[in-house]
Amino acid sequence: MRTLVLNGPNLGRLGRRQPEIYGTTTHAQLAEQCLAWGAALGLEVEVRQTNHEGVMLDWLNTAADDGDAVVLNAAAWTHYSYALLDACAQLTAPLVEVHISDPLQRPEEFRHTSVVTPYAVEVIAGHGIDGYRLALEVVARG
Ligand code: DQA
Repeated sequence: MRTLVLNGPNLGRLGRRQPEIYGTTTHAQLAEQCLAWGAALGLEVEVRQTNHEGVMLDWLNTAADDGDAVVLNAAAWTHYSYALLDACAQLTAPLVEVHISDPLQRPEEFRHTSVVTPYAVEVIAGHGIDGYRLALEVVARG
């Protein structure tokens, strides 16, 4: 079983995107950290980011076929994509939902809904980049 860390739209600009909310770690640095955290936990980790919803759906469909665990930060898609909901529903290995910020504590109403949460074994939000380490620990615990 592989663990896919899948990041959705605008997360490719981490480090430059609203650093007061998302911090100064770049996506490349986040990917490096996830590989190191995964290795320490005995997980085979792959990190990807896309701004294209269809690409994300293909990755999730393949994860369902292959029985891969998924650490998912679907970013804004989290809040409204029923296609994403349907893709998450098909996963068989653990799915952990991650957000760098805590969407429930943010003022915009649209962030208070998640189509991912019903299918996640755990939601980790508001821990910054470290949330990915916490998510990988959840996967490693099984
Ligand atoms: C996010 C929170 C979402 O509401 C937002 O659309 C993002 C990032 C987070 O990691 O805090 O793009 O998922």
